[in-house]
Amino acid sequence: MNAPGPIPPKILATGGAGYIGSHVVIALLERGFDVVVLDDYSNSHEEAARRINRLSRGRRARFLRGDVCNAATLEALFRAHRFDAVVHFAGLKAVADSVARPEHYYGVNIAGAACLLAAMARHGVERLVFSSSATVYGLADTVPIPETAPLRPANPYGRTKHMIETMLADVARARPGSRTVMLRYFNPVGAHPSGLIGEDPVGEPANLFPLIARSVQGGGRPLSVFGTDYDTPDGTCIRDYIHVEDLAEGHVAALDKLLATDLARGEALPVNLGVGRGVSVREAIAAFERVSGQQVRTVEAPRRPGDVAECVADPARAMKLLNWHPRRDLDAMCRDMWRWRLLNPDGYRGREVLATAADEMPPIAPVPAGEAQQTFRDAVRG
Ligand code: WQD
Repeated sequence: MNAPGPIPPKILATGGAGYIGSHVVIALLERGFDVVVLDDYSNSHEEAARRINRLSRGRRARFLRGDVCNAATLEALFRAHRFDAVVHFAGLKAVADSVARPEHYYGVNIAGAACLLAAMARHGVERLVFSSSATVYGLADTVPIPETAPLRPANPYGRTKHMIETMLADVARARPGSRTVMLRYFNPVGAHPSGLIGEDPVGEPANLFPLIARSVQGGGRPLSVFGTDYDTPDGTCIRDYIHVEDLAEGHVAALDKLLATDLARGEALPVNLGVGRGVSVREAIAAFERVSGQQVRTVEAPRRPGDVAECVADPARAMKLLNWHPRRDLDAMCRDMWRWRLLNPDGYRGREVLATAADEMPPIAPVPAGEAQQTFRDAVRG
């Protein structure tokens, strides 16, 4: 009988069935971590949980349905498991929705973080990776944006992220043994290369890439280009799109550092996760058309309230402190997003489509279709 190997670190991923969370959980499993997911499925799907474990080539994650704002749920969870670290995704993230019902966003995002921090303190769990957002910067004075830039969030969603960052800084000061990294995501896009998991927002999508896909798949509804008169080379807004797989690798890198080094001891360290390259709306549309072979019908529309002309990361700190480097380009983001949409035109709700779509999926250059389809078939059939 072989001696048991070293016990892997046990990670709690709140909201781990969501878009970002699901991709991170797969990366954590592949890294060899033991992962427990708490998710209330308010903006995710149990089908995603099933597919995560089908995709995992090693350990499987444990999924528990529950609300991070429920103190009794968290107490039971922390009593049942000795967590080495927590990755906190659970929260609401739609900007326009946060403007419409700010009380709901403060109620869920702030209360959820406070409830989690209290449970971590009670049980001596001292390492945290927090899912923050570039929205905390608001209209930045300079681009690319370093972590030291002033924080001027311009909407309730961004203000909840800023407030939680402030809470984490206070907790870090009170607990010198704690170590916290706050990952500020720029614009996550794309999907897992298998085509099995991807972005499937509950309700109406608001972000550019899901809306590009819907304009092609949704019966030809043209894509509105919000503003063509910005002070940018082609008049449309510029963003820092980052492949969700690169984002997932950034979380693994942060956890590795928190578990193995003194990084962020006694502080809440903000770290940008972006590519450091700006892409305009028109450039993003052109890249999608090139990769997918589809034509995107567009209509020029007025500027969207709250949009800034340019938002691009300075990723130097992540590269230096986490030894993390983005590896996937815009074409890969478009290709992987499109594969996910082709195989799941109704997102996770269209499960019955999966069994046949793999055979019908047109090859998406340049990834050999057989490779993607084989992974896909194996995973679907379990
Ligand atoms: C990108 C660009 C739009 C839709 C948001 C959140 C941010 C983060 C990422 C969570 C903008 C333009 C969009 C459309 C368009 N989420 N656009 N037509 O607003 O940069 O960031 O998502 O952390 O917090 O704020 O992303 O994808 O909504 O928009 O022209 O139909 O595409 O004006 O310039 P955004 P987005």
